[in-house]
Amino acid sequence: MQHFLDIHKTDPDALRSMIDTAREMKSARNGRPKGTPDDTRPLAGHMVALIFEKPSTRTRISFDVGVRQMGGETMVLSGSDMQLGHGETIADTARVLSRYVDLIMIRTFEEATLLEMADYATVPVINGLTNRTHPCQIMADVMTYEEHRGGIAGRKVVWSGDGNNTFASWAHAAGQFGFDLTFTGPETLDPEPDLHSGIAIDRDPERAVAGADLVVTDTWVSMHDPQSARERRHNQLRPYQVNEELMAAAKPDALFMHCLPAHRDDEATSAVMDGPHSVIWDEAENRLHAQKAILRWCLGV
Ligand code: CP
Repeated sequence: MQHFLDIHKTDPDALRSMIDTAREMKSARNGRPKGTPDDTRPLAGHMVALIFEKPSTRTRISFDVGVRQMGGETMVLSGSDMQLGHGETIADTARVLSRYVDLIMIRTFEEATLLEMADYATVPVINGLTNRTHPCQIMADVMTYEEHRGGIAGRKVVWSGDGNNTFASWAHAAGQFGFDLTFTGPETLDPEPDLHSGIAIDRDPERAVAGADLVVTDTWVSMHDPQSARERRHNQLRPYQVNEELMAAAKPDALFMHCLPAHRDDEATSAVMDGPHSVIWDEAENRLHAQKAILRWCLGV
């Protein structure tokens, strides 16, 4: 049984094999209607619980569709509709769900919830985002980069904005996939201190993106941030907006990514999001393919 909890906790060879599997499965579908199953149905007979304690569009739908394409069944559950949201412990929930389903994907707030679920479940658990990390997203992002530009090892990736959970998974991926990662953002919104080794930090966004192969950003106010902090965060992050001027300071063929949902013309302008550097729709699509590979790795099928 293998959990997919974080990129830095997963063997680099396994990560590489998941990306390869994702590309093969994407190619094998070859434009067939989205509601039809894959030729092979490795999840036939498998039941997957998808638990959401936070909102989601991409994660929810891509996991659901991915499991069905592979011949499995899903249950999409809201934490607040379960006894989990009314005092039942995570450990007891994990023990009970493990009697019904073959795999649990959970999007939750605290990392401790995910880890406790994994400790007590007797089936694989996948991290669908916590306040701390977002590993499925970055697997899709690495796949997307390599689809457009070849191997990511040795490339320069620059994150402009808030040092949030999505950045944390980029930092974990830098070590595992061997690319250089620069963070540019205000000191007050720095990544967690344990992420600083192995990344570069540059407060000047134009200097930071010089030579970048990929520029990435994310929303300025994450789901777990208080709305009362919105104005302060916007004021601090405005100099780090990804706009055409900033992209012009990167390599001419640099890509732009945003995991979405975006607040257009805040963290990135529409001109960049819809412009020639942007691969955001491929990035969103690749959530589906990357997660199908993660599911197969977890289940060993
Ligand atoms: N990027 C991402 O995780 O999107 P959702 O919040 O819509 O799932």
